[in-house]
Amino acid sequence: MASSNLKPSSLICIKKLSESLNLTSNIIPSNYVHFENPTESTTAVDDLQDSIPTIDISLLTSDDPDQRSKAIQDLDKACQEWGFFMAVNHGIAEELMQKMIEISEEFFNLGEEEKPEFDPKNVLEPIRYGTSFNTAREKVHCWKDFLKLVVHPHFHSPQKPQAFRDVLSEYCARTRALVGKLVKGVSQSLGLDDGEMEEALDLASSFQLFSANFYPPCPQPELALGMTPHSDHGLFTILIQNGVGGLQIQHDGVWVNVNAIPGSILVNTADHLEIFSNGKYKSVLHRAVVNSGRTRISIAIANSPSLDTVVAPCPKLVQTELGCAPAYVPMKYKEYLLSQQSSKLDGKARLQQVKVLGG
Ligand code: OGA
Ligand code: NI
Repeated sequence: MASSNLKPSSLICIKKLSESLNLTSNIIPSNYVHFENPTESTTAVDDLQDSIPTIDISLLTSDDPDQRSKAIQDLDKACQEWGFFMAVNHGIAEELMQKMIEISEEFFNLGEEEKPEFDPKNVLEPIRYGTSFNTAREKVHCWKDFLKLVVHPHFHSPQKPQAFRDVLSEYCARTRALVGKLVKGVSQSLGLDDGEMEEALDLASSFQLFSANFYPPCPQPELALGMTPHSDHGLFTILIQNGVGGLQIQHDGVWVNVNAIPGSILVNTADHLEIFSNGKYKSVLHRAVVNSGRTRISIAIANSPSLDTVVAPCPKLVQTELGCAPAYVPMKYKEYLLSQQSSKLDGKARLQQVKVLGG
């Protein structure tokens, strides 16, 4: 049968590995060990938790101009100082967030034969189920299985579970509306008209990539990683989780645990916002750690320019007579995405390649 060649990789999915270890051994295989040296482990600080910004999204579109401009200032500060914030009053029903997580868990609980198959060489394949990040390129793997779906401008869903498609379609539409508000907000905080960024990046055809991440219990969580440090492609990543923490962001060179406010949505700035803003809003470095007790599920949605947009620093922000030169080389979003997804996860290495030398 030709299709059996298309399994994600010969590597066992992490869900099965985790189940078998629990029965037989407490030692993880060496190709999952990220930290040989206990001093460089997954520890992070908790005491900065209270300083992580919270943004009330409803105020971004308030009728009161003072409230609106205060909210835009808060958004500006959060994007500049942290590249990360917790969104509250975001307009997405908690029940829908819950359903999205539950139906994703059902997906991972399906038998392997019921999960979709794909060609691992094609990173733009619209439905991809697999393990780790890019098993062909990495020596040490991530403690994670994933389902990645292209959901906009063309919508794709697995066939099973049956209710998946409807929940996914509604959740993705709601997150696009949320991102629309954020984009209008940062367009203004960059000194542009509120619709200027949307137009420049062709967001009517924005590329939206859904990832459901499944991190089962790990018997040696201090040696493993769910996701190695990276920044995301796109403008903003929107993340929710099943009440189990594990996301860490880097702030002033220190890893900070994110303990999400219940009902909030976690938002991080990504590489194409950094490029468009000519470095004003840097994409945040982040990683996911695992634990030995409970399975963690997160849903991360990357929201990006259209595939054909050539992303460059916004011309209005790089008037050379003001002494501000473009700090990034223009590149088609699709090419950036292809190259990032076909490499191994490696900090901000991809972004570094479009930086103007000496800039
Ligand atoms: C991602 C990501 C972190 C998490 O999917 O890009 O960074 O906490 N996920 O699952
Ligand atoms: Ni990420």
